Amino acid sequence: MAKTLSFSCTACGSSFSKWSGRCDACGEWNSIVEEKPLSAGPSKKSLGAKRGTKVPLHDLATHEAPPPRNTSGLGELDRVLGGGLVNASAILVGGDPGIGKSTLLLQAAAKFAQHGVRTVYVSGEEASAQVRMRAQRLGLADAPVKLAAETNLRDILTTLEAEKPDLAIIDSIQTMWLDTVDSAPGSVSQVRASAHELTTFAKRTGTAVILVGHVTKEGQIAGPRVVEHMVDTVLYFEGERGHQFRILRAVKNRFGPADEIGVFEMTGAGLAEVTNPSALFLSERGEPAPGSVVFSGIEGTRPVLCEFQALVAPSPHSQPRRSVLGWDSGRLAMILAVLEARCGIPFAGLDVYLNVAGGMKITEPAADLAVAAALLSAREDAALPADCVVFGEISLSGALRPVSQTENRLKEAQKLGFTSAMVPSGGKTGRGAGLALRQMGDLTGFVGEVFGAG
Ligand code: TYD
Ligand code: MG
Repeated sequence: MAKTLSFSCTACGSSFSKWSGRCDACGEWNSIVEEKPLSAGPSKKSLGAKRGTKVPLHDLATHEAPPPRNTSGLGELDRVLGGGLVNASAILVGGDPGIGKSTLLLQAAAKFAQHGVRTVYVSGEEASAQVRMRAQRLGLADAPVKLAAETNLRDILTTLEAEKPDLAIIDSIQTMWLDTVDSAPGSVSQVRASAHELTTFAKRTGTAVILVGHVTKEGQIAGPRVVEHMVDTVLYFEGERGHQFRILRAVKNRFGPADEIGVFEMTGAGLAEVTNPSALFLSERGEPAPGSVVFSGIEGTRPVLCEFQALVAPSPHSQPRRSVLGWDSGRLAMILAVLEARCGIPFAGLDVYLNVAGGMKITEPAADLAVAAALLSAREDAALPADCVVFGEISLSGALRPVSQTENRLKEAQKLGFTSAMVPSGGKTGRGAGLALRQMGDLTGFVGEVFGAG
C-alpha cells in the first residue's frame, strides 16, 4: 500500500494532501510542510459487531460548588484567567519570542507557590541555573517552585505523575518531544501530540497545566494556533517592541469571560502590574494636537481609555498609503469610504496613518467614531478639545449607533478628569456621569457640529 503523506500548515495546523505555497485555510505563505501522519487514521470499515464499553452518564443538574480557583495574587493575571486558576485546566500562553512570556510565567509560578499552590516549572529552553538567575533578578529566588530543564515529554509526564503538583508550567510547547512521534520537535505533529498528552494529563490528574507557545512567523516551527482548540483557555501576551506595556489578552476561556485583558509594564525587575491602564495609556499625551482623539473603550469587564492618533498628508504616490497600528485596516478603509460617500470628504491623494498610542490593540467597532474624529481632525488640522472623549459605531449608511456599556465608558472618562463626550444619540447614558454630552445621530451631523463642515 502506498504510504499516505500529509502536509500541515505550521501556522494554523490545517492538513492537506499536497504541498502548496500558500495555506488555503489561513492564507499564510510558505507555512506548509510535509509531515508523517500521527496514526493511520480511522478505518474506513464500519464498527461491526464489536461493541465498546459503556461510559457512565452523569446528570447535568448538580449541587456541587463551582470548581475551586487558586489565585496568584497577581491581580491582572487572576482576572484574565476568570478569577484564578481552575484545577485540571489547560491554558495556552502565546506570544512573540522575547515579549516576556517566560518572565510572566516565572513570576506567576513564584506567586502561586507563595500562595500554597505546589508548582513545577519545566523549561525546555533554559538550564535550571539560568532560570534561577532570572528568578534572582526578579527578587523571587526564595519562592518554593520546583524546576526542571527537560524536553523529553515522557520523562516530564512520569515526573509530574509522581510529584502530583497543583500547577505545571511547560516553557515552551515547541521544545517538547515525544518518542512516539516520528518528527522533529516543533513540528505540527510533535506540538499537537505533546499538547494532547499534557491536556489529557491535566484532565486525568487535576493538575493545571500552562503551555507556553511562541508565535512563529513562518518556517518549520508550528505556532500556538495549532493547539488552541485543545486547551480550555487561550491567552496572548502582546506588546510592541520599544514600548514597555504588555497586554495579556484572553481570546478563549471556558472558565471566564473572553476578551478580558491584564496590563503589565516591563521593568528592570520584571513585569509590574498596571492597575489603572487608562492613566498609563494617556500618560504620554501632551497638549491637544490635531489628529489626537481619546476613545473610551471596554476591554473585557473593564473600561479603558486610550488615544487614537491620525496623520493625514498629501501623498507623493499614485496609490496613497494606508498604515494602521493597533486597529483593523479593513475597518479604516470602511470609515474612509463612509466619510467620502456620505459626508463628501475625500481622502484620495492623501496618505493616512492611524495609531493607537502605547501599543494597545483595539478591536471594538465602538471606536469607529473616535477613528473618524481623529481622521477629520488630522485632515482639517483642527484639534478636538483636550477634555473630550469620543465613542460610537458607524454604519455604512453613515448613521451613528449607540454602543454597549455607555454609562461605564462615561464614568471611566469622568474618573480621569474628562468633562465632555461625543456619543451617538439613543445610548443608555444614564446621568451621563456628570459629563457634558454632545449626542449625534449621523456622521454628517457630527462633521458639521465638530468641524463646521459637512
Ligand atoms: P522573556 O520572558 O525571556 O521572553 P519570552 O519568554 O516571551 O521569549 O523576556 C525577554 C525580554 O524581557 C528580554 O528582552 C529582556 C526583558 N526583561 C526585562 O526587561 N526585565 C526583566 O526583569 C526580565 C527578566 C526580562
Ligand atoms: Mg521564553
